[in-house]
Amino acid sequence: MTRSEQFSHTSFQAALVSLSLDRASALPLHQQLTEALRDLVLSGRAPAGARLPSSRQLAQELSVSRVTTLTALEQLVAEGYLETRRGAGTFVAHDLPRAAPAVGAPADLPAPQPPQPYAPLSPAIPDLAGFPHADWARHLERAWRAPEPGLLARPDPLGWPPLRAAIAAHLEGWRGLRCAPAQVIITSGASESFDLIARALFAPGDTVAIEDPAFPPMRHALTRAGLALHPLRVDAEGLPVDALPARMRGAVVTPSRSYPLGTTLPLPRRLALLDHAARAGAWVIEDDYDSEFRYTGQPLPALASLDHAGRVIYVGSFSKTLSPALRLGYMVAPPRALPLLQQAIAAAGPRASLVPQPALAAFMAQGGFATHLRRMRRLYAERQRALIHALAPLADLLQVAPDPAGMHLVCPLTPACPLGDHDIARRAARAGLGLRALSAYFDGPEAPQGLVLGYAGFNADTLRDAAATLAAILRHP
Ligand SMILES: Cc1ncc(COP(=O)(O)O)c(C=O)c1O
Repeated sequence: MTRSEQFSHTSFQAALVSLSLDRASALPLHQQLTEALRDLVLSGRAPAGARLPSSRQLAQELSVSRVTTLTALEQLVAEGYLETRRGAGTFVAHDLPRAAPAVGAPADLPAPQPPQPYAPLSPAIPDLAGFPHADWARHLERAWRAPEPGLLARPDPLGWPPLRAAIAAHLEGWRGLRCAPAQVIITSGASESFDLIARALFAPGDTVAIEDPAFPPMRHALTRAGLALHPLRVDAEGLPVDALPARMRGAVVTPSRSYPLGTTLPLPRRLALLDHAARAGAWVIEDDYDSEFRYTGQPLPALASLDHAGRVIYVGSFSKTLSPALRLGYMVAPPRALPLLQQAIAAAGPRASLVPQPALAAFMAQGGFATHLRRMRRLYAERQRALIHALAPLADLLQVAPDPAGMHLVCPLTPACPLGDHDIARRAARAGLGLRALSAYFDGPEAPQGLVLGYAGFNADTLRDAAATLAAILRHP
């Protein structure tokens, strides 16, 4: 043994004796000892070939039971850090790669923060306190306490069949859209649906018309898939259909309520859009994001209900009707798009969890969902009135008008408003409000200035306080 080997063997013995185990720790002693010995080996302080004391000796030196030391040594032999030689004892393994020490958790990252409540006036947030928790728990428990065999079989990547049937029935009643359950595909939300559609139905470089303004995650999904976006500024009647590019491969539209402005695409434009798509051989993606919440008049049926050529893919989501935490949405695909979408799902693997699907299927089939929607519709209509009332003192700075539908108000800034919408949104965020700048949804130049104010998820008191905070920001910039 060379002098330096002798030295490191001695320092190893010293390190062994000074090992300290924490008896108050929740980690069992044998595990603490395993980790400490492993560290000694990996850090090089326990040199290859060094002999360890016997398990009995080690137990005495560390004042622990022999079972503790035996368990730790056996574990490290099994992992290959130590080796035993018959009749000679236990040694640090010779052929250990002198790799970097085991990767530990980085120490400088901030600890995860507890979830914060949604900031008042955040758009797209339903009334989460009104989520039917008791019903939901009952349906989940029923589905999973003694799961039926189908739930334990290989899941259908297109979703749980009874949920697909329940969605088909819901769409016929609420959106005038007749479809077969086989056309319904369950996803983890509209964002995943856009992602799948972009990859399954288009090739990079394809021209896809979109509305301007539009839902940013949709724009993002299409851009990421390499599609050439062709934004068209919406006018008082929604998408200017006669400006659609002749060679478009697709169009993404929100015909029931253009997002976020809320204009409804009139029937002549709907028919012209479908006609254009049929002639161009293009797909039309209909994002029907909050049509269930209409307060006056009858909603126009979904665009997909007029689609005789089989070109429209209907996209729906439970994020606004139930909760964004559910992460469940769906698509209704015309027969010719089904195999393409199916292939894309098979390639990427389904993302929607099966766990909530049987509960949601039962909730819908037994009428709980329809009851919940009616209850929320009444509540949101009241909340919209409460917000309009609370904003009345700001009439010189914000144009506030009732909206026959939806979960947010879009309020253009008047010329007297002293701040731009981005500036207001930044100051509002610092004051704890979740409102958005209208211009942030636009792509092209000269975006109109305004505020997008979500009311559905907040009670009248919260809305009144939020309006007072907003008034302070606007009056005392
Ligand atoms: C225009 C629009 N489409 C779709 C959705 C739903 O998206 P997801 O299902 O991914 O939560 C929203 C929700 O905010 C939306 O505003």
